Amino acid sequence: MTQLPLVIRPELPADAEAIDRLHERAFGPGRFARTAFRLREGAPHLLHLSFTALVGTLLVGSVRMTPVMAGGVPALVLGPLTVDPAFENRGIGSALMTRALEAARAAGHQLVILVGDEPYYARFGFKAVPEGKLTLPGPVDPRRFLAAELVPGALARAQGPVSVIRS
Ligand SMILES: CC(C)(COP(=O)(O)OP(=O)(O)OC[C@H]1O[C@@H](n2cnc3c(N)ncnc32)[C@H](O)[C@@H]1OP(=O)(O)O)[C@@H](O)C(=O)NCCC(=O)NCCS
Repeated sequence: MTQLPLVIRPELPADAEAIDRLHERAFGPGRFARTAFRLREGAPHLLHLSFTALVGTLLVGSVRMTPVMAGGVPALVLGPLTVDPAFENRGIGSALMTRALEAARAAGHQLVILVGDEPYYARFGFKAVPEGKLTLPGPVDPRRFLAAELVPGALARAQGPVSVIRS
């Protein structure tokens, strides 16, 4: 098989349809009821901090970042992170995570939160948010509510509800 190189680039508006198909496949129609989806509802993600993975012309992965206030601290919600099942375990998820976190840090962001599996996200610096510190607009398993500080001490300053920033 010919190996086409992996390209990671900022998301473009034209990627939306293919990304929605990835989300549908990974999370199913029930995805809109999930707390992380509900949190992001109605708030646009930031295209310049969201990244798309391509193999040739095929869109094989995506990660998005949405600005929020997290207990009084400006933060980003990371997600969904999705890789086409046919392309899993080739480092595409890691490449998307590394690129998105680097871009967020370079843009001066201090805190990134997400809902996901700690055994996967720990390698990128994510840890469980201490229980009771931040509240999401829906139920979440506290072991899956994670944060990574891009600026040391950012999480310590956060206390209270997480809400999207509506423009
Ligand atoms: C999770 C996901 C993004 C990983 O993408 P990927 O490109 O396969 O990941 P990578 O190739 O960078 O990393 C693969 C490694 O992560 C591990 N891994 C994958 N999912 C994991 C999970 N949920 N928990 C723990 N480890 C996990 C793999 O076992 C593999 O381990 P290894 O490096 O020791 O072999 C992808 O599987 C996916 O899209 N899943 C469905 C959607 C989803 O659950 N998204 C995350 C929640 S928003």
